[in-house]
This record gives sequence, C-alpha cells and structure tokens, in this order.
Amino acid sequence: MPLRKQAMKNIILFGPPGSGKGTQAEKLVDKYGLLHISTGDLLRSEIESQTELGMKAKQYMDKGELVPDEVVVGMIRESMNRHSDVKGVIFDGFPRTVAQAEALDNLLDELNAPIRDVIFLEVGDAELAERLRKRAEISGRVDDQKPEVIQNRIQVYKEKTEPVAHFYEEQSKVRRVNGEQDIDGVFASITEILG
Ligand code: AP5
Repeated sequence: MPLRKQAMKNIILFGPPGSGKGTQAEKLVDKYGLLHISTGDLLRSEIESQTELGMKAKQYMDKGELVPDEVVVGMIRESMNRHSDVKGVIFDGFPRTVAQAEALDNLLDELNAPIRDVIFLEVGDAELAERLRKRAEISGRVDDQKPEVIQNRIQVYKEKTEPVAHFYEEQSKVRRVNGEQDIDGVFASITEILG
C-alpha cells in the first residue's frame, strides 16, 4: 500500500444524510490539503460511467438503501491505493456500518495510521428534511427527488449507521459538533477540534 506511514491526519465526517458532510469536506480539503474520499461521489461516478459496479449500486441507491459492504470497502481500498503520500484522508459517507468501520480499522492498521477524529455533525430531522428538499431543486440526484426515499435514507442511517458512532465512542474518538449552525459556524467548530 503506497500511503505514507507516519503522521497522517485521518478524519471521518459522520452524520445523517444532509448534515453537511460534503459541504464541510470541501472546506477542510482547502484548509488542510487532505485527500477527500466520498463513497457517495465514487458510486455516482461509477453510475455515470455505467460500469457493472455502478449499475449494481444504483439499484440500492435509488431506494435509499446501503450498497453492500464488500463493494464499498473494495472501492475504498482501491481509492487509497491510487493515492500515494497523502497527508491524510477525510472519509465522507464512510464507514456506514459497523462492518465497514472494522474493515477500515484493519486497513489503517496496515498503514499504522489510525483514524484520529470522528467529527459527528448533529442535525435534527426537521432541518435535514428541509435541506434535502431544497437541494432536490438543484442537485438532480435521483435519491433526493422522492420524499419516501429521503425518509428511507434517514431511517437506514438510524438503524445501520448510528451504531458506528458507538463503535468509535468506545475508542474515545467521537467529537460532536452542532451541525445546525451556518456553514462557516460549523467549519469554525470543526477546525477548533482539528487544530
Ligand atoms: P451519500 O452521497 O453519502 O449521501 P448522504 O450521506 O445521504 O449525504 P448527503 O450527500 O445527502 O448529505 P451531506 O451530509 O454530504 O450534506 P451536504 O453537504 O450535501 O450517499 C448516497 C447513497 O450512496 C446512500 O444512500 C447509499 O445508497 C450509497 N452509499 C454511499 N456511501 C455508502 C457506504 N459507505 N455504504 C453503503 N452505501 C453507501 O449538505 C446537504 C444540503 O444542505 C446542501 O444543499 C448544502 O448546501 C446544505 N447545507 C450544508 N450545510 C449547511 C448548513 N450548515 N446550513 C444550511 N445548509 C447547509
């Protein structure tokens, strides 16, 4: 694996759909020069290129269900292999199940570069629904178009992804941030934590 083996700043941006992970990841990349890996973006790019993986993933994404763990973990491994000598990685939308979190820990153990912080963007359901409703008007994302799919994504988050926070709480890595502040306010809270 070609990644640098020391002093990597590996961060997870964690939170429900619409909590601002993608928005904050872009700003953090600018400030810290980290590699941004968004599994949602990687999957959408596979769909756009009409690959076999993309066509399989689309069946899950259009319904607001999670794509199988082995598909996503394989993509993460490949993506990290492609980038050498990075200062660290911002994981956005990954891990989303405890099995993915365990796979990521194993992968990073090989690099001796564990996750440093899990930034948990806390946003209430009403605000999430409102943000995703607004984004639907401009995003063109299939999974933003139907209220029942948005609802299912939030439900799947609660059932399968929230337990990932407990997984990292046991490692004392979770830093909770009020994600209902304006974008710059959230960013200031995150950078205060990351230094
Ligand atoms: P993914 O692409 O990861 O979507 P998501 O988690 O549902 O996240 P979103 O992109 O909807 O929200 P976000 O938190 O990034 O918020 P954003 O910054 O855009 O996943 C899509 C699908 O892919 C999944 O459903 C699943 O099928 C599959 N998938 C992906 N990863 C997977 C994995 N690991 N395992 C299995 N399946 C996987 O902000 C939202 C909106 O709010 C924007 O319009 C933004 O401008 C606005 N906004 C942001 N911050 C603020 C703020 N502070 N105040 C006001 N508005 C704000």
